[in-house]
Amino acid sequence: MRLGRRCSPVGPVALVLTFALTAAGCGGTGADIPAGQGTAPAGSKESSRVEKIDFGKTGDGVAIDQYVLRNASGVVAKVITYGATLTDLLVPDRNGKTASIVLGFDRLDGYLGNEPYFGATVGRVANRIAGATFVLNGQPYKLASNNGPNHLHGGLKGFDKVVWRAEPHDADDPSVTFTYRSPDGEEGYPGNLSVSVTYTLTTQNEIRLDYVATTDKATPVNLTNHAYFNLAGEGSGTILDHELMIAADEYTPTDAALIPTGKILPVRATPIDFTTPARVGARIDQVPAAPPGGYDHNYVLPPHTQLFLAARLVEPKSGRAMEVLTTEPALQFYSGNFLDGTIRGRSGVAYVKHAALCLETQHFPDSVHHPNFPSTILQPGQRLVSQTIYRFSSR
Ligand code: BGC
Repeated sequence: MRLGRRCSPVGPVALVLTFALTAAGCGGTGADIPAGQGTAPAGSKESSRVEKIDFGKTGDGVAIDQYVLRNASGVVAKVITYGATLTDLLVPDRNGKTASIVLGFDRLDGYLGNEPYFGATVGRVANRIAGATFVLNGQPYKLASNNGPNHLHGGLKGFDKVVWRAEPHDADDPSVTFTYRSPDGEEGYPGNLSVSVTYTLTTQNEIRLDYVATTDKATPVNLTNHAYFNLAGEGSGTILDHELMIAADEYTPTDAALIPTGKILPVRATPIDFTTPARVGARIDQVPAAPPGGYDHNYVLPPHTQLFLAARLVEPKSGRAMEVLTTEPALQFYSGNFLDGTIRGRSGVAYVKHAALCLETQHFPDSVHHPNFPSTILQPGQRLVSQTIYRFSSR
């Protein structure tokens, strides 16, 4: 694996799609991230911004591809066709030292039956649906129950466990568009849903996620990405010292099974208030949560019609910072509470409780049962368009 800025031709294992990078582009630095270590010498050869790599086969013998996206400032994003999953993200720190900042694996095996949803695209409906049932247009629907009696993250075989088609686009802002057709009745949902998610790595050190979906019958849809971030580096400890800001004055309280009560309450004067930046660990013991404890809350963002800066995360030692911008109405902050040390990721280090955190942009959980929540119902003829940006810098 190569770290940092990459301006040389790729190795034999990689299928080079095109050679689009100009020497000028290769010499540039993006945003306020310093040039990475291992920077190629000036005047080095042009190189591709996207590589396709064989990532192994599923149990059914389906070949899985990995696409490696690189920008001129040393940021590298790796995505695979299994689950349209972000498997790795390499970002320089304030000294230009690059580290992998998401939990994940370098081999497909780790992702097969990916229960913690590391880096996956989650759907048809992310988060929980109470009782795994809902009624739409007078018709009751029974979904797969995979979280006690409830439905979580699309069911037993959600979008995180299917194989997507990939179309790469080599450019200064390289991208891969993943598409999937979810058949009528899949996991109990009505309607054939055509869904795509495009991962773009920009010259501004952003990972931009563009979701599009259409259906031929009314159906609930709620799409998110389930990347687990640790800005100090994957396998380097917990995220309790990360400093977090969430621009939300309200949240949706839940019962012990994490099903919303339907209320929308202020965060003010509670340990879940992150409107002023605070250490994740500062009040985590005071969070009124069911075991195993920690943050697992849906934050209600103020109404917005454009991209909205929902959260900012800073890791003080490395200086890495991440901003989350979204068109979605809410953000689930999950502090990796169910990680219990039984999974070892790419570094070989056990993923313990709070080894990483998720900032999942989405609609509210269990919206199908709460008319006071923004609707997740997509109608035939409508086009769901949603955008989320994870923007990296250092300070
Ligand atoms: C949820 C958690 C759940 C986790 C599964 C998160 O999005 O908020 O409650 O346990 O996903 O990995």
